[in-house]
Amino acid sequence: MTLKKQTLLVTGGAGYIGSHTVLALLEAGHEVVVLDNLSNSSPQSLARVARLAGRAPVFIEGDIRDDTVTRALFARYSIDAVLHFAGLKAVGESVREPLRYYDNNVAGSLALCQAMAAAGVFSLVFSSSATVYGEVAQMPISETTPTGRPSNPYGRSKLMVEELLADLAQSDPRWRIGVLRYFNPVGAHASGSIGEDPNGIPNNLLPYITQVAVGKLAQLTVFGDDYPTPDGTGVRDYIHVVDLAAGHLQALNALQTRSGWQVWNLGTGQGYSVLEMVHAFEAASGQAVPYRIAARRAGDVAQCWSDPAKAEQELGWCARRGLPEMMADAWRWQSANPQGYGGD
Ligand code: NAD
Ligand code: WQD
Repeated sequence: MTLKKQTLLVTGGAGYIGSHTVLALLEAGHEVVVLDNLSNSSPQSLARVARLAGRAPVFIEGDIRDDTVTRALFARYSIDAVLHFAGLKAVGESVREPLRYYDNNVAGSLALCQAMAAAGVFSLVFSSSATVYGEVAQMPISETTPTGRPSNPYGRSKLMVEELLADLAQSDPRWRIGVLRYFNPVGAHASGSIGEDPNGIPNNLLPYITQVAVGKLAQLTVFGDDYPTPDGTGVRDYIHVVDLAAGHLQALNALQTRSGWQVWNLGTGQGYSVLEMVHAFEAASGQAVPYRIAARRAGDVAQCWSDPAKAEQELGWCARRGLPEMMADAWRWQSANPQGYGGD
């Protein structure tokens, strides 16, 4: 079944994954309303999305915790479903500022659900994370793998929201909730005009690598080469952000025929080590990436990759873009926008 044209609210739609998903939704013919407080993004991302799509989403600058804003929004627009990306995502910051993280991510999601229920909107796609599985002994990770204890408040906030949503779906059969557990999103739209624009020094591997290559950072620090992995460095399931965006459209589609709480892993099923990532980036970009080996980073797991079979069976979705494309697209974005959206 293909998705009929809908009016969709995208919270956090100016951010990295949200902006790529807004573009995919506009390209598929949907009407899109973005609610974002711009706490970790620039309105330029949406201006560029509009240029790529040939039409603009409605943009409302506001906070998901502000029920004056959400109630007015639901009263004005006839929203069919909500894609909920808004949240804070920096692991280290969440350790230093747990209250801000629980407020934004947990209380924010709660307030959003209350506003949805008050408006009679019951379809929701939630951005969760593989971090909810915690430390897992056996790879790959499928949805039947029990959730664990995430090693930081950010991860625990995601798990709390998942559980809140499960209770909500249990309480009222009108809810249709799709929880998407992303593995490691990377890359950028092939145009090079939208991409990831982290504040300050990146925490994540690929933006760090691209900023070394563009000359903003001197060298990469590889966190640990003594893990029980083939080359000793950490292994992750990196997924192209455009594939991830496509997964959201498929999830919306599936919610037309499935009620209750559903969960899908969005990954490729393939793990790559830090050093494989460095070498794949060098091959795709022609740029050298100097690095040094350092101690392990606290809270990191040795390896993490998905079993994406459930999404393939139930959503008809699988990741199509491989490592060379992830690297080429990340580099096109970074080299064309060395200052991110700040260069506009
Ligand atoms: P991002 O920071 O680029 O985007 C999040 C957006 O939400 C930003 O534009 C920010 O301004 C907005 N926002 C934050 N708090 C808000 C609030 N209270 N009200 C309104 N807007 C608010 O992050 P992203 O990488 O695009 O991540 C999107 C979602 O996916 C997040 O929920 C994140 O936890 C989740 N996720 C991300 C990753 C990743 O590695 N990027 C992995 C797994 C899950
Ligand atoms: C990947 C690999 C590092 C940086 C985090 C969050 C997770 C999710 C995605 C939102 C690891 C190594 C990294 C560097 C390095 N976010 N590394 N040098 O840790 O898998 O996941 O982002 O939900 O919750 O925890 O991603 O990109 O930080 O690290 O050696 O400068 O690269 O040790 O092996 P991670 P990452």
